[in-house]
Amino acid sequence: MKRLIFLFLLAFPLSAAAQDAGLAEWQSIFEVFSHPRCANCHTQDDHPRWSGAHYGATRIHPFNVRRGPDGFGNPGLTCRTCHQEANAEILHGPPGAPEWHLAPAEMVWFEKSSAEICAQIKDPARNGGMSLEEVAVHVRDDALVAWGWAPGPGREPAPGSAQETFAALERWAGLGAPCPQDTDG
Ligand code: HEC
Ligand code: HEC
Repeated sequence: MKRLIFLFLLAFPLSAAAQDAGLAEWQSIFEVFSHPRCANCHTQDDHPRWSGAHYGATRIHPFNVRRGPDGFGNPGLTCRTCHQEANAEILHGPPGAPEWHLAPAEMVWFEKSSAEICAQIKDPARNGGMSLEEVAVHVRDDALVAWGWAPGPGREPAPGSAQETFAALERWAGLGAPCPQDTDG
């Protein structure tokens, strides 16, 4: 019994500290995922969003742009009609990256809480069947993600860098990937 209590005392403060450290890592990841340069392409409905100082107010992508059958837009007006492989160099010109398209609806971040995004990113049924290691590598290596830090003239980039977010995801996973609770938000 004494030994059990001793083990409990030993383990509990450690796991509480790991939980706090993990939640701090998650907070920095959440600040990236919820940033308009990421979340505006991770919407649940059929429309990407425009938001940030560069766009005035947050609004639905104009020109009647839609998700279409596969995220690449309606056959009559695909994303690639306007979005090329690289950013337009003029202010308000279309940004670009290879394979420009909307994220699948289940990977929704736009207007979602920290707790909701955290639960989504850990759920293989909603994250494209990925382990957390694969999620981290996707953030480090994917071209659409990279665009979030090099979004072209006038647009505010996501905080930090792809490498820093990759490293934060690895540390968060190593600390047990804790998620915040929804505080009846
Ligand atoms: C008719 C042309 C056109 C089509 C088609 C189009 N876009 Fe755009 N898109 C633009 C332009 C122009 C901008 C930049 C406007 C600006 O900077 O003021 C833009 C900006 C964006 C942004 C940046 C938003 C931000 O907050 O920085 C995203 C994301 C986006 N489009 C997604 C898409 C997706 C996904 C599709 C296809 C489903 C698509 N667009 C189809 C013209 C288009
Ligand atoms: C132009 C649209 C677009 C932008 C901008 C974008 N994404 Fe995505 N994202 C996608 C698509 C599409 C997928 C689905 C995988 C694929 O087809 O490449 C995806 C999937 C992901 C995934 C896979 C797991 C999941 O559950 O979401 C992660 C992680 C991710 N994006 C991170 C980011 C981050 C971080 C940013 C901003 C720095 C960002 N994305 C910006 C379109 C975008």
